[in-house]
Amino acid sequence: MKKKIIFSGIQPTGSLTIGNYIGALSQWRKLQKKYFCIFCIADLHSLTIYQKKDVLNKNILDILAICLACGISPEKSIIFVQSHVPQHSQLNWILNCFTNFGEMKRMTQFKEKIYLNKNINIGLFNYPILMASDILLYQTNKVPVGKDQIQHIELTRDIAYRFNNIYGNIFTIPEKILNTNGSCIMSLTNPQKKMSKSDPDNNNIIDLFDSDFIIKQKIKNAITDSNYPPNIKYDFKNKPGISNLLIILSNITECSIKKLEQNFKNKNYNNLKESIIDNLCIFLNKLRKKYFFYRNDEKYLKNIMFNGAKRAKKQANITLKKVYDTIGLSFK
Ligand code: TRP
Repeated sequence: MKKKIIFSGIQPTGSLTIGNYIGALSQWRKLQKKYFCIFCIADLHSLTIYQKKDVLNKNILDILAICLACGISPEKSIIFVQSHVPQHSQLNWILNCFTNFGEMKRMTQFKEKIYLNKNINIGLFNYPILMASDILLYQTNKVPVGKDQIQHIELTRDIAYRFNNIYGNIFTIPEKILNTNGSCIMSLTNPQKKMSKSDPDNNNIIDLFDSDFIIKQKIKNAITDSNYPPNIKYDFKNKPGISNLLIILSNITECSIKKLEQNFKNKNYNNLKESIIDNLCIFLNKLRKKYFFYRNDEKYLKNIMFNGAKRAKKQANITLKKVYDTIGLSFK
């Protein structure tokens, strides 16, 4: 039987947090076992915020090396850079013409961003339609995403239904996959908020490149609670800090939350934090070693990148041709 198709994307915006690792990359690695996976470095999406030329160029190679270090296989899966496959922009224009202004105005991420940002470009408004193009080009069955992207997947489905209603079965209707165990790693200092690099409080995140010393400090300062006696239990509603720490440890050690709760039964919060510090330092040191191995070989990285684009183009062209044919743009 043909494997189902997974598509997901990540923006090349500097280094990443363990939230990005747990919420996206570690999940991508696991999905490769069961699905045919297509992973996209979404450089066009990142242009919605001004990027310095050299920084963007470097960030694309950085993120590719991180993906490889996290276990994305360029043989089993396709990993490519979005702008290298022009079909994304081509389909984007067509889908623009099948999307209502009204439904775009309701996109919550856009509404939040205009609230914070002074320089609003149309790319930011159009962003979810480019994302729909990414997904629909590959006849994607499932899209692993974080909670903040759910509305974009709903939009993608609406656009696909609308198009199919007029022209027949052109696009596969994609479904989202949410990572149940930590689709959202929360801030260390305010576990009601998502761990995010855009937060001005740098203590809220663990960067994949934080030193052992910094990791120790940040985990030591992470918010817990003042329950007495301290109990190490997953209960997000009443114990968000401890629950977030358990999710982090569970993902890093691949040990279930249940098992962790047993292991820490008669232990205190300090014991939990010590264990997280030890495991995180070991884990991140290993990851960084792999990262530098790939990052120091730009020739290899470019080879992976160009080869990925070639394979992605082949798939993308099949859908784009179908679309051109059905809407009346092809001539024989
Ligand atoms: N918008 C996504 C994010 O910022 C990245 C992305 C681009 C994506 N294209 C995609 C994710 C297609 C899933 C599918 O996280």
